[in-house]
Amino acid sequence: MRLQGKTAIVTGGASGFGAGIVRKFAAEGARVMVADVNDDLAREMAAEVDGIAHHVDVSSSDSVAQMARAVHELWGQMDIIVNNAGITHLPKPMEEVDEGEFDRIFAVNAKSVYLMARYFVPSMKAAGKGAILNVASTAGLSPRPNLNWYNASKGWMITATKAMAVELAPHGVRVNAICPVAGETPLLSSFMGEDTPEMRAKFLATIPLGRFSTPEDMGNAACFLCSDEASMVTGVAMEVDGGRCI
Ligand SMILES: NC(=O)c1ccc[n+]([C@@H]2O[C@H](COP(=O)([O-])OP(=O)(O)OC[C@H]3O[C@@H](n4cnc5c(N)ncnc54)[C@H](O)[C@@H]3O)[C@@H](O)[C@H]2O)c1
Repeated sequence: MRLQGKTAIVTGGASGFGAGIVRKFAAEGARVMVADVNDDLAREMAAEVDGIAHHVDVSSSDSVAQMARAVHELWGQMDIIVNNAGITHLPKPMEEVDEGEFDRIFAVNAKSVYLMARYFVPSMKAAGKGAILNVASTAGLSPRPNLNWYNASKGWMITATKAMAVELAPHGVRVNAICPVAGETPLLSSFMGEDTPEMRAKFLATIPLGRFSTPEDMGNAACFLCSDEASMVTGVAMEVDGGRCI
């Protein structure tokens, strides 16, 4: 029960890595808000862990502000925020990603981190404690060709993590990131472009431990970084990647 008594928001918590993080946090005693645009899946996930489903579009200032008000009414205090919601474009040459796709990726993957900070950091500062976890990617450390602007959005997230960590450290708030390698989630086929045995073998060949990552892997890493066991850890971008970035 390493998160006993803590409150946590997991954005994109209805699916994939977010769902793995929600399950682990709940199993370790946290009260969890599953914050997602997908209402049906969020409700299912929340029911499974006795948590709360909340509709949010993390790229919208109004929507995040409304969630902050709801959280303050519900719990008063927010201990843990996981910025996990994220999207990608399909693999293609950088000049073929259109402006609409580019803007959407940066709104969901990058601006969301700013919006969550804008609406939740003041109460964390006031409480003198808190943990924020950004779900970045190995894409931000060791980019693959053709995922160009997605890669860059994750690099942005890693720098944001470090900038937030150094600024919030005097306030007792820790900020870390995890960098997952390709994982078994609904997003995987978008990264690969086509889900074929050949494409899977190509991705797996770059992962020394020889398997894709899982939502459980992310739950375990997130739990450690957001728990008091990691009270001396801030500003790290931890690879959860089976050795891919070595
Ligand atoms: N799966 C991988 O291979 C992989 C690898 C590295 C990093 N990541 C990162 O992990 C995170 C989770 O990805 P996943 O693979 O679990 O994907 P997923 O598609 O399974 O889950 C993403 C969740 O985010 C939600 N979401 C999307 N846009 C949203 C918005 N605007 N507001 C609120 N919720 C929104 C979706 O409804 C969904 O429930 C992402 O940030 C992704 O970039 C994934």
